[in-house]
Amino acid sequence: MTTTPAITITGLTKSYGDTAVLRGVDLSVPAGSIVALLGSNGAGKTTTVRILSTLLKADGGACSVNGHDVATAPAEVRASISLTGQFAAVDEILTGRENLVLIAELRRLSDPRGIADDLLARFGLTDAAARRVATYSGGMRRRLDIAMSLIGHPPVLFLDEPTSGLDPQSRLEVWDTARQLAGQGTTVLLTTQYLDEAENLADRIAILHEGRIIADGTLAELRQLLPPATVEYVEKKPTLEDVFLAIVGHDHPVRKGAES
Ligand SMILES: Nc1ncnc2c1ncn2[C@@H]1O[C@H](COP(=O)(O)OP(=O)(O)OP(=O)(O)O)[C@@H](O)[C@H]1O
Ligand SMILES: [Mg+2]
Repeated sequence: MTTTPAITITGLTKSYGDTAVLRGVDLSVPAGSIVALLGSNGAGKTTTVRILSTLLKADGGACSVNGHDVATAPAEVRASISLTGQFAAVDEILTGRENLVLIAELRRLSDPRGIADDLLARFGLTDAAARRVATYSGGMRRRLDIAMSLIGHPPVLFLDEPTSGLDPQSRLEVWDTARQLAGQGTTVLLTTQYLDEAENLADRIAILHEGRIIADGTLAELRQLLPPATVEYVEKKPTLEDVFLAIVGHDHPVRKGAES
């Protein structure tokens, strides 16, 4: 892994009306790494991803993706990225295969059908390929959505809660895919509510809270933020959840979501 940042965010601010959601976010994502952005509901994760993918304008600060400034070179940024949004963006009228072929054609790749068939097989959708997406389960839509985002091998991938609603097996498939892509040099910024997902998948973890990144590091570094226990008879490392709840505050509703 190189240490060149593929994504840099400096002093990013964004308000909706009077509500300041991002109040000076600073984050750097090394190329070829997987970084998980954690935060409670409403913390501003999707807002950050939408700004980085040029769907939303920032109020202040600067972001660059794959060396391109998001504000001044949006077309270059869009050519470098792929986004799997929090809510699947597949076309329900089309079949799974047609959705994939359409994206491959839009990206002007050769052999759109071959690309579609490869991805259908990889995501366990071959049997459902000829069915309209309207008949797919939530997990199948999500898998198709992620498959669509991989077409054309974009160097930077944004995954906004990529495994919400997936069964454990599909979750593992998505994790494997993300790891494989990072191994080949793709940079992955993912948001998640599942702390075990961040713990298992991410090289670095950043916690967004009250508009700022309040912690950023490897899991081992984040663990060191907790004071060592004074009396401890059983050797047990703090989980990422322990670290998260200690930093964010124990009464936060994220605790409920994390135990699902
Ligand atoms: N278009 C909008 N207009 C007004 N407020 C908005 C808009 N989009 C988001 N917000 C508010 O901004 C805050 C951050 O929202 P955002 O979707 O970025 O959070 P999130 O961290 O992705 O949350 P979740 O975990 O629920 O997906 C929330 O308070 C939300 O209500
Ligand atoms: Mg969100």
